[in-house]
Amino acid sequence: MTTRYRQLIGVILGLFIKSGFANAATVPVAATDVARDWDSLYWFLFYVSLFFFVGIVAAMILFAVKYRKQVHKKSAYIHGHVGLEILWTVIPTILVFWIFGWGWVVYKDMVHAPSNAMEINVVGKQWMWQFVYKNGTSTIGDLYVPVNKPVKLVMSSEDVIHSMFIPNFRVKEDVVPGMYTSIWFEAKMPGIHQIFCTEYCGTSHSGMLGRVVVLTAEQWKDWQSGKKIDVDSLPADPTYPGYRANRLGEGLPAEAGQAPHQLSLAEKGKALISAKGCVACHTSDGTKLVGPSYKGIFGKEEKMSDGKVVTVDENYIRESIENPQAKIVAGFPPSMPTYKGLVNEEELAAIIEYIKSLK
Ligand code: CUA
Repeated sequence: MTTRYRQLIGVILGLFIKSGFANAATVPVAATDVARDWDSLYWFLFYVSLFFFVGIVAAMILFAVKYRKQVHKKSAYIHGHVGLEILWTVIPTILVFWIFGWGWVVYKDMVHAPSNAMEINVVGKQWMWQFVYKNGTSTIGDLYVPVNKPVKLVMSSEDVIHSMFIPNFRVKEDVVPGMYTSIWFEAKMPGIHQIFCTEYCGTSHSGMLGRVVVLTAEQWKDWQSGKKIDVDSLPADPTYPGYRANRLGEGLPAEAGQAPHQLSLAEKGKALISAKGCVACHTSDGTKLVGPSYKGIFGKEEKMSDGKVVTVDENYIRESIENPQAKIVAGFPPSMPTYKGLVNEEELAAIIEYIKSLK
């Protein structure tokens, strides 16, 4: 059964019972302390609502039967009951103030980052997430963070309003052009956690996915010193195991991530342009998105925005990946970020080979 169906059934079941199954299917895995606090409050509200729903409906049915219209019978005149009135005023008042106080405490924890939080800058753009770390490195699609350390995301957008949502951490905030917003979290579970964009931002909004890659202290050290982390070998997202860092990744053959040596160079290039987020702006079928399509582009003479004509060869593709602003094809915006340092020589060769294969 797919996760989606399991979730749907879970929602229906969750209305009646709170079993481990319904719990797991209705709310994502809680991967932070804030998420756990959030869930406690959520289930408290759920059961208070369920209690009153059942109680009120039962009383309504009972009274409807008991006091239904009967011949020659006049109902008694009721004066009121002071004790009862105090009771149904005081109990709900205590209850709503309790809920307010509880919500306030959790909300405060959720919005106020600890002062020692590690800051990472986030740039949202159609249709990808870019993460810039203090040491100057940057990644696209994958956000690398250490486990058990508070992390604060300082976010802005290059174009329209996006929204950063990490369900397993229960944090969500709009990412707005011209200003900074922020969220924070302290991940407790190493492995992958899905990121969604939850503000409609154009054609590929639904494909604007990302992953939080939570590393152990040791892996974090390795990553910071420049060592490559095999992300696919890390624990999969327990809530969204099938998701990848981008929309076309979902359609990849299952073995693409596991056994790259068995793929041809062009196939590897295809997997790469998906994994690196290139597919957010470039298609392989001739469709025009933010950037030119790869189809039939190799060997073609293209007119640039400064009027010069350039032949698309290996060096032009390399330059366009490492220094995208150098030569912009006429009719396209100069909006691509540099991938210098994010694509190694072997990967470059694979991508070029894949573009060559698209006749
Ligand atoms: Cu970005 Cu929706």
